[in-house]
Amino acid sequence: MLTKRLQTILNVLPNVQSVVDVGTDHCLLPIAIKKKYPNMEVCASDVAKGPLASAQKMLQEYHMQDIQLYLSNGVQDLPMQCEAVIIAGMGANTMIEILEKGFDYCKACKYLVLQANKDVDLLREWLFTHGFSIVAEEIVFDYKYYQILVVEYKKQEWNSFDVMFGPILRNQHSDIFQEYWSQELDKYQKIVKQLPSDYPKLKEANSKLQMMQDIVKKGK
Ligand SMILES: C[S@@+](CC[C@H](N)C(=O)[O-])C[C@H]1O[C@@H](n2cnc3c(N)ncnc32)[C@H](O)[C@@H]1O
Repeated sequence: MLTKRLQTILNVLPNVQSVVDVGTDHCLLPIAIKKKYPNMEVCASDVAKGPLASAQKMLQEYHMQDIQLYLSNGVQDLPMQCEAVIIAGMGANTMIEILEKGFDYCKACKYLVLQANKDVDLLREWLFTHGFSIVAEEIVFDYKYYQILVVEYKKQEWNSFDVMFGPILRNQHSDIFQEYWSQELDKYQKIVKQLPSDYPKLKEANSKLQMMQDIVKKGK
């Protein structure tokens, strides 16, 4: 059974002809994709041999040997172009590095499905400034909060609220979104209170705090 985080990624994945799960590790997601879409060409890759070996074991266990496994740094060493790329369960900086090094590959995809474990705002800013748009967004609680983005290579208008809160998530303003940002606001208020008055980034911190207050107030 998939975790809520992986299940949500599966739910938002568009029905494409081919997909690669980059940084697959346990390979649970590709197995679930193949079960849901038997005709989809499903591949999985990892930069490290250890995770690939456990992926291979899982494929044998689940009799899913038609899922191709590749040793690849990001998308760089993949022998074929897939219509969709999934990158999940990493920090935004690692994901941005993968997207930068595989920019041409990612631009040629119909969709990217991205789930950063932290710094989702950095990821969104990178996507917007590099010509991508967010076409679907989800937030789930699975012991912690996770945000999942479905992205296309197509320009979109954006602002600092879109970067921080997500253009779709902030418009939908679900209960879970409100809950997440109320908690983040509490934490951030405590941090800002303790900053010295000559802290060089105080103005920046206060404007971030104001944005969080605005969004939380809007949901009440
Ligand atoms: C925490 S696991 C996430 C596994 C799975 N994607 C998930 O969301 O549950 C991160 C995996 O990403 C792999 N990884 C890290 N950097 C990578 C890169 N540049 N290219 C491919 N895989 C990478 C790691 O080896 C590790 O197996």
